[in-house]
Amino acid sequence: MERKSIKLVICKDKNAVAVSSAQIFADEIRRKPAIVLGLATGGTPIGMYRELIRLHKEEGLDFSRVVSFNLDEYLGLAPEHRQSYRYFMDSNLFNYINIDKSNTYILDGLSKDPKGVCRKFEEDIKKAGGIDLQLLGIGRNGHIAFNEPGCSLDSRTGVVNLTQKTIKDNSRFFKDESEVPRQALSMGIATILEVKKIVLLTTGEGKAKAVAESVNGPVTSKVPASYLQHHSDCTFVIDKEAAQNL
Ligand code: F6R
Repeated sequence: MERKSIKLVICKDKNAVAVSSAQIFADEIRRKPAIVLGLATGGTPIGMYRELIRLHKEEGLDFSRVVSFNLDEYLGLAPEHRQSYRYFMDSNLFNYINIDKSNTYILDGLSKDPKGVCRKFEEDIKKAGGIDLQLLGIGRNGHIAFNEPGCSLDSRTGVVNLTQKTIKDNSRFFKDESEVPRQALSMGIATILEVKKIVLLTTGEGKAKAVAESVNGPVTSKVPASYLQHHSDCTFVIDKEAAQNL
């Protein structure tokens, strides 16, 4: 596979990251109102979602024909669990915009047939015509979605084990570390590389090493985000702190 360069937008702070990434999403939604979005959870996209809600309320940004697919979901958490990614999406974005919730696809973490759910998710993406614009975050260990170090380039949506580092990082959202699920359902690397356009957001010096390795390092399973060098339209929108090792 050919190696391409990841584009960089370096912003002065996390607020500027939120505004400039929301602008990219808003422009694409206006250009293609029935756009298929790939969405992410975590701490980083909250500011961008807040800005999209503002654009909806104040400038009439219309989500009525938008379709969305979320990157991942914890295995074993019900949609109404406060730490589930369905709950996150509803409470940070979907409840405040005019998206049709039946067009928002999030993997079912409670299903008795997780593999079947993952297969159907891939089919649903295909039926929707593929993902036009994918939002990503990045873990300190370079993970994208829940594709942890060691994952393969040809992985598809499936059940994955979380690393100790990710469990520890994500425990800030739970009462304590023992409550963090050990497994998740996640889009695979190959699934992500099939999208038309990728925007990865990150902020803070804790991500600087992962950012530098992903952008300038070799393409390696040790840093899953380095696989993004294989994509022809991938932009990292980051703040100065996350850019300090570039
Ligand atoms: C979330 C996801 C994860 C996060 C990553 C960064 O859907 O797929 O890969 O993007 O763990 O999380 P934050 O933004 O909390 O640092």
